[in-house]
This record gives sequence, C-alpha cells and structure tokens, in this order.
Amino acid sequence: MIKKMNHVAVVVDDLEAAKRFWVDTLGLVLAGEEHVASQAVDVAFLPVGDSKIELLQPTDAESGVARYLQKRGAGMHHICFEVDDIEAALAKLKTAEIQLINEQPVLGSDGRKFAFIHPKAANGVLVELYELTAE
Ligand code: CO
Repeated sequence: MIKKMNHVAVVVDDLEAAKRFWVDTLGLVLAGEEHVASQAVDVAFLPVGDSKIELLQPTDAESGVARYLQKRGAGMHHICFEVDDIEAALAKLKTAEIQLINEQPVLGSDGRKFAFIHPKAANGVLVELYELTAE
C-alpha cells in the first residue's frame, strides 16, 4: 500500500526563526515556500533525499494547525506516505475499521489527492496519505 515517505511536517510558530535552524544551521536547502489557503498555513519545503521536511506556520488562529500549536507547542505534526491508489488505500483502512479524518480523498491545488488517518489509529501520529499525479 505504502510506496515511500513523502514528507515529515513540523509545526512552528515563526517560520523565519525556524529556517535559521533548519536551513542556516542544519544546512537543508529551501526549495520553495507557499501559502496553502485550505489548511491556513505558510509552508517551507526542505528536500532531504527523496523526501522532505515541511515547516508549517499557521496563518489563522482558528485553524486546526493553529490549535495544535496552541495546545502542544511546536513539534512534529504529521508524516506523509505516498500510495499508488488512495481510494483503494482508504477502502482497505475502512474495512479494517481504522479511524480516518478524511473518509474521501481531498483534491490538492496541484491535482494530487490526500487524506489523513486519525492519530488515535496510529499510535498518536497523524498520518497523511498522498496519491501524486503522474511524475
Ligand atoms: Co503534509
């Protein structure tokens, strides 16, 4: 079902300050930044080999990511795996009675599909699944 790791997302309260560690000190390369309106976050993409670190800074105090930051502080937010067929993956998880945040795939701005598995089902880890469009 899982092909590979796509990214690890880290929630931060100050993207510029976070970049001073991850980019300036650790030496990761900043490949891009974007505002993701649907999740109300600014994201910085830092590739590491085949996968990447995504730094997320919430831009709306009412968003899910902002509430996570208020409650738990900065830290690892989720890990994301690539799958070949997200509908099939979600169907398999539903059959196994795994608690999902997204019962159906959500369509991203770039055409990729994603869905989140509830952390209760994954040892406290929020897990995202990606089905990428043709690479
Ligand atoms: Co993600």
